[in-house]
Amino acid sequence: MNGPRILLIVGGGIAAYKAAELVRLIRKEGGSVTCVLTEGGSHFVTPLTLAALSENPVHTTLWDLKNEVEMGHIQLSRQADLVVVCPTTADLLARMAAGVADDLATTLLLATDKPVLAVPAMNVRMWGHPATRRNVATLRADGVTVLEPDEGPMACGEYGPGRLPEPPAIWQAIAGMCGPDARPLAGKHIVVTAGPTHEPIDPVRYIANRSSGKQGFAIAAAAARAGARVTLVAGPVQLTTPPGVDRVDVETARAMAAAVEAALPADAAVMVAAVADWRAADEAPQKLKKDGSGEIPPLRLAENPDILATLCRSPARPPLVVGFAAETETVIAHAQAKLARKGADWIVANDVSGDVMGGALNAVHIVTAAGVESLPEMPKDQVASALVERIADALA
Ligand code: C5P
Repeated sequence: MNGPRILLIVGGGIAAYKAAELVRLIRKEGGSVTCVLTEGGSHFVTPLTLAALSENPVHTTLWDLKNEVEMGHIQLSRQADLVVVCPTTADLLARMAAGVADDLATTLLLATDKPVLAVPAMNVRMWGHPATRRNVATLRADGVTVLEPDEGPMACGEYGPGRLPEPPAIWQAIAGMCGPDARPLAGKHIVVTAGPTHEPIDPVRYIANRSSGKQGFAIAAAAARAGARVTLVAGPVQLTTPPGVDRVDVETARAMAAAVEAALPADAAVMVAAVADWRAADEAPQKLKKDGSGEIPPLRLAENPDILATLCRSPARPPLVVGFAAETETVIAHAQAKLARKGADWIVANDVSGDVMGGALNAVHIVTAAGVESLPEMPKDQVASALVERIADALA
């Protein structure tokens, strides 16, 4: 038995019968399964069925004193590689998103530090309801992998998305999350910068730019999912820290430079931040005032350190340094020039003349000494996954 060890939480929906089939499939593929059955789940499939198929005891309650003495229920996921919630009903999805822990299944899900795969199955309207949409988005932001349900005729007689995917498709997702390729950056340290910098003019005013930090945060999240230890040096943005990421908040370019240096050594650095090229040369200690004379105070600028170029020349240079280039014209040519000027290994170039900054989509070109790879426009988290895949290949 050298396949994945799965803790399978079976929720209360008609699709629960397919969970029994999933147990058989996981075992056929060489994995092992321990089942947790919710109160609702036990109306659709019996503990005996799951125990017989998994050849393991089935856990149904938090209040089982015998087992609580033998092994804390909260620790059930300790021996698992992956927690699979199948089927994830609308109710279970909502309780997971809210962090409710009112039964064995939700208590385990709140206590586990293992990756979680949720396989939803529910009525088409429930799946489309704004509350469910919000809950799915929350869970994904929390690092839970939520599979998309299949589309087709449903047990309730309606048609649409909401059906449990077939067990072979669920197995494929499980294998993808547990297989040897699932954590290709395990043991690696990746430093990512993200967001804008704020360069103070006086205590209330600053120079900034339109960077949202979304692309950098997505890269940090993808690297962490791939098993890396990630230090995310973030400029001032209101974004949630991705699960498993060490975040260092900074305001200015100089503070960002110091934080990057302090984070070394690293196996790779991905400099996504839109660092201000200039800061106010003379930061006023008090708020600049209009004095009625009509005189406009001069704003003298001083050059900020180039964090990327400095890192590339540093004796502690990570083996792979990736810069970004936000351009509004001749994107690739500028990126090629930047590659040479800064000494980076790759420059990821994007055209920000549209609404990329702050938006959800991005189309990038990966420019290296070997050539240019252009990716189609896609959501920023997919750009992040594609990039992290290439980083893992480069560091392998
Ligand atoms: O020169 P430019 O600002 O276009 O270069 C962009 C790349 O350089 C990005 O990777 C950005 O994070 C990095 N950079 C930096 N420090 C600066 C300016 C840019 O690290 N002062």
